[in-house]
Amino acid sequence: MTDGIRIERVTKRYGGQVLFADVDLHVRDGEFLVIVGPSGCGKSTLMRIVAGIEPVSAGRVTVGGKDVTHAHPGDRGIGMVFQDYALYPHLSVEGNLAFGLRAHHVPKDVIRQRIEDTSRVLGLADQLRKKPGQLSGGQRQRVALGRAMIREPAAYLMDEPLSNLDAALRVQMRAELIEFHRRTKGTVLYVTHDQVEAMTMGDRVAVLNEGEFAQIGTPTEIYEQPATVFVATFLGSPQMNLIEATARADADGVELTGGDLRWRLPRLPDDLPESVRVGFRPESVRVQADDGSDLPIEATVSYRENLGNESILHLRDDAGRAIVARVPPRTGPRDGERATFHVPLADLHLFGPDGRARWHGARLGTGGEPLPWSA
Ligand SMILES: Nc1ncnc2c1ncn2[C@@H]1O[C@H](COP(=O)(O)OP(=O)(O)OP(=O)(O)O)[C@@H](O)[C@H]1O
Ligand SMILES: [Mg+2]
Repeated sequence: MTDGIRIERVTKRYGGQVLFADVDLHVRDGEFLVIVGPSGCGKSTLMRIVAGIEPVSAGRVTVGGKDVTHAHPGDRGIGMVFQDYALYPHLSVEGNLAFGLRAHHVPKDVIRQRIEDTSRVLGLADQLRKKPGQLSGGQRQRVALGRAMIREPAAYLMDEPLSNLDAALRVQMRAELIEFHRRTKGTVLYVTHDQVEAMTMGDRVAVLNEGEFAQIGTPTEIYEQPATVFVATFLGSPQMNLIEATARADADGVELTGGDLRWRLPRLPDDLPESVRVGFRPESVRVQADDGSDLPIEATVSYRENLGNESILHLRDDAGRAIVARVPPRTGPRDGERATFHVPLADLHLFGPDGRARWHGARLGTGGEPLPWSA
């Protein structure tokens, strides 16, 4: 049992610009933790800091309980797989796999054994003589993974390792990586742009935005109880609908009004601000009401996208606001038709003017107590 990877109060500045300040992250031993965030938010920089390719401006990094903040990249016990695999083109697969071990003067028979084991696990046993240029994209990706594995590192860093692959291969390699992790129980810190990768691969997901982690949680927590408007809209496609509304508490609960909407909700936390943003995901907009607690929206279908397995309806409510609904294929009203849609109360999210979540409908069943981050 080791301690995984710890990033403690790490700050990074380029010139006078602060990229992030005092960030903390603990990737637990054996955990697969996925970092997502917009382009330029510092994901790769954070990975390079952990790898030792980029110095910290302040703070500490530990791997397996050892302080490696100022250690040489090769002495950190970390295996790296990056988007640009950077295999040595003039070396065979075998040469690429062995390169790091030879550089570290690992005995020849140990190298031979590890190449045999690694190439068998990754299905590369009959490709060892080939050069990278003679391999498929997926095979090259596996060599890059093998080159990291063969060092038997305490932890892995992977920065968009699948983004150079075509869609079908990405799905296949995603499954292989998940299986690899289940089997090896290695500690993995993984960066991706791809929502599906974040949702399906991560034990936990960390959402990085503007120099801080907006939320760190399981994929389900992040999706069902997003801590901020940013998290709510960053994950999920099409993104969550948001409507400005006014909340007024009275004896029986809360009335939300905005445009032509007038929704009654049961009792909510007392500190609910008057000005709120009401969020609900496209899949929460139903053509048919489920039960009496559904909230109605009158809207007209602007146009429909038929995707085969589902349809995306682009709606306008009577106040002219755009709302997106995701419905089963070939269901719902036609273009130009006006209809009443329904949103289950349990699927509602309320955000304050500061963008922080104040209430999630999914919490109804558990008493709707205030959320930890609304305090
Ligand atoms: N050596 C450097 N000097 C100055 N600024 C840099 C340097 N390296 C990166 N940056 C800046 O730091 C910011 C974060 O870059 P980084 O590569 O970490 O982003 P990222 O989150 O990985 O983005 P992407 O999703 O596009 O890969 C960017 O604004 C980038 O321009
Ligand atoms: Mg990057």
